[in-house]
Amino acid sequence: MSELQQQLPAGSTAALTDRYSAVMMNAFGTPKAVFVRGEGCHLWDADGKRYLDLLSGLAVNGLGHAHPLVLSAITSQLSTLGHVSNFFATPAQVALAERLAGFTGTDAKVFFTNSGTEANEAALKLTRLTGRTRIIAAEGSFHGRTMGALAITHNPKYREPFEPLPGDVTFVPYGDVEALAAELDQTVAAVVLEPIQGENGIVVPPTGYLDQVRDLAHSHGALLWLDEVQTGMGRAGDWLAHRPGGQGWAADLITVAKGLGNGFPVGACISTGAALDLVQPGQHGTTFGGNPVAAIAGLAVIATIERDDLLTQARARGDQLADGVRALNHPLIEQVRGSGLLRGIVLTVPIAALVADLALSEGFVINAPRPNVLRLAPPLIITATQLESFLSALPLWLQQIGATQENS
Ligand SMILES: Cc1ncc(COP(=O)(O)O)c(C=O)c1O
Repeated sequence: MSELQQQLPAGSTAALTDRYSAVMMNAFGTPKAVFVRGEGCHLWDADGKRYLDLLSGLAVNGLGHAHPLVLSAITSQLSTLGHVSNFFATPAQVALAERLAGFTGTDAKVFFTNSGTEANEAALKLTRLTGRTRIIAAEGSFHGRTMGALAITHNPKYREPFEPLPGDVTFVPYGDVEALAAELDQTVAAVVLEPIQGENGIVVPPTGYLDQVRDLAHSHGALLWLDEVQTGMGRAGDWLAHRPGGQGWAADLITVAKGLGNGFPVGACISTGAALDLVQPGQHGTTFGGNPVAAIAGLAVIATIERDDLLTQARARGDQLADGVRALNHPLIEQVRGSGLLRGIVLTVPIAALVADLALSEGFVINAPRPNVLRLAPPLIITATQLESFLSALPLWLQQIGATQENS
């Protein structure tokens, strides 16, 4: 531990939470825990309690915490060359762009960012370069908190305090091809969708939906833009959720972030097809985006996922989790949905937040993106035994919360 780390505020969860609330903007409410250390699939809080991390920092730490390969790649890159700006190129940036382009299976180009929302801002700006302005997005969508990404995010609670937002956005029901077809015309620059809606509660569209949307969009000269910020980089069992097994077409615009840097901030907007060469010098930029440290983090993540066959692992563990939840046959569980290690457990009653809080107090990190949905996005390195420990605890939590609800 460095000298600076040793000087960080120490103390109990309660004391640190008070200091947090005094000095941090109240954007996130009161923190549910104060974590001081992570290793593999575990986290430790300021009181020394250990947790099984089944959320991976919101679908980010696919390789778990303090992964040795990511760690050594970042430290070694930082001690060689940390940052030079985008006036200049670096080998790490070029290599990561080549790897991401490779995931599309076609000619592709990359613009690096520091987050998911910035990747979507880049994509949104690119759509304007088609000469059209209208965007069709989906009800239930989430694309980020900056003004452009917010404009294509559906939840009124997030949007309304900040209106007017960049305009010309129409929302259609997710998964409904007819509704989309009714809105498409020659004014539409792009259709933007998540291959699986994450923040909306892990909502999976009907089979063939994305194929149909692509054909429809293209028949009107519109781009298809898929936001893979949450689903990409192995989370749903493939590099890109819309290319299962690395096969098939790639969207014209693809955005990724979250799992790409395993916690080191890095995102990317990838262009193919009609979007390949839309941007010209001076039309978009970033100081930090794609710096060599962020790029090496992405390369280390990709190399580790390949070396340890973590795409296969994500699918196998994801199936184990889904089958295990179904086998509980619990009256409060309606269904389990998702793909790979991005899973939503849909409850019959809106008690998900209470269940997530109880789970946390019992040493399991999960969350509740919707009142009736529990989200699990564990590290891709999660073991069968670790998932079993969740599966045995879940019915007890449901029983406890369910009983409290009935008596209240
Ligand atoms: C699908 C999707 N797009 C974009 C974002 C925004 O990413 P970030 O929080 O890195 O800006 C998120 C974050 O949850 C997301 O799930």
